[in-house]
Amino acid sequence: MILFLSLNTLSMMVYICRNPFDTFVSSWMFVNKIKPPSMPTLSLEEAFEMYCNGSVGFGPVWNHMLGYWNESKERPKNVLFLKYEDLKEDVVFHLKKLAKFLECPFTLEEESEGVIENIIKLCSFEKMKELEVNKIGRFGRNFENKFLFRKGEIGDWTNYLASSMVEKLSKIFEEKLGGSGLNFRVK
Ligand SMILES: *[C@@H]1O[C@H](CO)[C@@H](O)[C@H](O)[C@H]1NC(C)=O
Ligand SMILES: *[C@@H]1O[C@H](CO)[C@@H](O)[C@H](O)[C@H]1NC(C)=O
Repeated sequence: MILFLSLNTLSMMVYICRNPFDTFVSSWMFVNKIKPPSMPTLSLEEAFEMYCNGSVGFGPVWNHMLGYWNESKERPKNVLFLKYEDLKEDVVFHLKKLAKFLECPFTLEEESEGVIENIIKLCSFEKMKELEVNKIGRFGRNFENKFLFRKGEIGDWTNYLASSMVEKLSKIFEEKLGGSGLNFRVK
């Protein structure tokens, strides 16, 4: 997920990525939901092959991540790089970090009034999923907004991936991200 913000001449970008295993499972299910009914279902095995050889939208995934990761190191004032797993682990910390990045940090007064907690509630996965527009809205012929919300959990991949797949994808990411400082906790 990428959020672009242009404030006058200042451009800021917030990049959020997720561990490759959950990302793969999520995108595989998503692709099958938005495909035209006339197209055959994409099997898990075939989708995995494509993910591993980089033949996916905006792929290869590791290049996409590394491009933003590199930029966030070179221009930390312009690019904020976040990981979904870190966000979920400590939402308050990351929300404060985001506010600082956007140059509108929370005041002590806002903090004591519970503004941070209210924003977290308002933007929670559960709350967004239950919004009318995300339950019945659509975008184009095959794209229903509800397809954008599944579980939002960490580690659901363990219910889908064979151990050989986990091994293969771990190797690819170790190799591709090696030395960059970018890594993912997967369990
Ligand atoms: C990637 O894998 C898919 C599925 O097996 C295959 O159809 C495609 O040709 C492969 N692409 C490359 C670049 O290897
Ligand atoms: C990211 O930076 C590393 C180290 O400088 C470089 O090897 C790599 O090509 C860069 N990747 C991208 C996608 O920009």
